[in-house]
This record gives sequence, C-alpha cells and structure tokens, in this order.
Amino acid sequence: MKKDGSGLYFWLNGKMVKAKDANVPILTHSMQYGSGIFEGIRAYNTSRGAAIFRLDDHIKRFFRSAKIYAMDLGYTQKGIHDAVVKTVVYNKLDSCYIRPFAFYDDDSIGISTTGKRISVFVAARPFGAYYGKGKESGISCKISSWQRINSLILPPEAKASGNYINSIIANLDARMAGADEAILTSLDGYVAEGPGENIFIVEDGELVTPSREADILLGITRDSIIKIAESMGVRLSERNIHKEELYTCDEAFFAGTAAEITPITRIDSRKVGKGVPGPLTKMLGNEYSRIANGQRRDFDYWLTYV
Ligand SMILES: Cc1ncc(COP(=O)(O)O)c(C=O)c1O
Repeated sequence: MKKDGSGLYFWLNGKMVKAKDANVPILTHSMQYGSGIFEGIRAYNTSRGAAIFRLDDHIKRFFRSAKIYAMDLGYTQKGIHDAVVKTVVYNKLDSCYIRPFAFYDDDSIGISTTGKRISVFVAARPFGAYYGKGKESGISCKISSWQRINSLILPPEAKASGNYINSIIANLDARMAGADEAILTSLDGYVAEGPGENIFIVEDGELVTPSREADILLGITRDSIIKIAESMGVRLSERNIHKEELYTCDEAFFAGTAAEITPITRIDSRKVGKGVPGPLTKMLGNEYSRIANGQRRDFDYWLTYV
C-alpha cells in the first residue's frame, strides 16, 4: 500500500478486490438518494498486534440499521465480522479506520427499494486523529441553527448515509462561521450531538450527556465513556442539556469513533471552563486510549485481536 492508500484491497460481496476496481454504476440508488447504511470502526496498534475496538457492537448496530430500513444484507453478523477482520489482515493494516457499507447498487431511477439488489463492502485505510492537533488542544464549536434530525422525520438511531446531509450542512455552517465543528440541538431545543459524535459536558465534577430521547445516534464511544466513568466512580447523568449549559459548564468533549475523545474548548466564541482541555476530559481520554491500545486488562473484552 502506498501513502495515499492506493494499493489497498476492499472486501466487496465476499471477494477481496483492488480498491480502484471496486466500482458502482453512476446511477446507483444509494448514491442518488443516500440509502446506504454503514459503520465506522477503528483498529489500534497494540503490543499484541492490531486490535479492532468493539467490533461486534459495531456489527450489531450495522444490522440494526439494516433492519430499520428492511435491508436483507445476505450475510450473518459473523460473516461481516469475518469480512472486517479479513480486510484488516489482508491489507496488513494495524491502526486504521474501517468502513462496512451496505447499499442498493441498482441503477434504476425509482425511489422504491423493494426488490433492489444490495451490495456490501468493507473498506479500511490508515487514519489519524480526526481533528488533527485539536484532539490534544481542543476545538471550537458553534451551536448550529440547523436542528438534528429527529424520530418524527428520520430514524436517528439508524446509521444511514442520508442522515449525514443534516450533519454536513451543520458542519458547513460552523466552518463558514470560523468554528471547527457544529453542535446540533434537538427539535425541542436541547443539546443533541455533533455531526458525527456524541457530546459530554462536566458540571461540578459530574459528567452529563444527552439521553437516548434527545434524538442521538447511540454511540459506541459514548457507551464506552459511560462504562469507563462508572468503573472509575465518576458521577454521571444522562439527561437533557440546556443550550446555555454549554456556556457555563466546566468542560465539554466529543466522543466518537473518528473523533475519539476530543476536548471542546470554545463554544460560540466563549471559553469552555478555562478554555483548555479539562482534567476529567483528559483522564477519560487517556483511559479510552489505554483501553483501545490494549493496556487495560479489565476492558480487554472490547478488543478483537487480529
Ligand atoms: C451522528 C453521530 N453521532 C454519534 C456518533 C458516535 O458514534 P460511535 O461512537 O459509535 O462512533 C457518530 C459516529 O458514528 C455519528 O455519526
């Protein structure tokens, strides 16, 4: 594999094919209408070789997304598990980002998905910190004027491509206003999540994150942070967060597979706490990273060594 990722092989419908040969017709339904479902998974380079973080939880969510849209993937969860492992091993990858994706590759014009052919691929490539140096020093956010999709309109719990056009416009809006990232609120005005990550704040030593009712994607990193916090005796509450709490909290951070734990140090141009990553954020970020890198035996069951 070259530095730009060329030379990689992707798993496509059961076969390993060169990435450049993994093509679809230009009229592919999922490209036109955003009807794909997918996952984003990371593998880490541990002292015992590459390890995929919470692989089976990601696969479970992949199948839940498929069920919501009545997509018969034609594979078992074990089949996709094996495809992910094979893609990492085949490409001799260690630290990388893995993208299982299921889509309608039918190239007719109609919207209906009934009876349309489904393809599944697993791609993987080396991937660094999503927010670059921001992962250590923190990023700035803007509360978006665009609200998060909600269950009345689209299922937020399905990780479906079409959902991300909502994420894209919020991110675009934030970037155009000079911030690094957006924070979206739910239709009733409470804090929901980032375009591709869940959010946590810290207030008086308590960790707070929006609950399932806030129309969020139930993130696996979010769940990991909750479990790590519990294991360390950190007080935690899942509840509605008012927008203004984002201005008054002591710490804030994003949690997601791509973003990992990224401190948020400015929101709407106001400093979060002292304007630098806070102690609980750093502690949880370190523990998350230790676990993902195979350095905490009590959480080793989250890792699939390949
Ligand atoms: C909208 C959204 N929220 C939250 C997350 C975080 O989920 P996870 O931690 O499972 O990656 C993601 C990323 O997948 C996402 O796209």
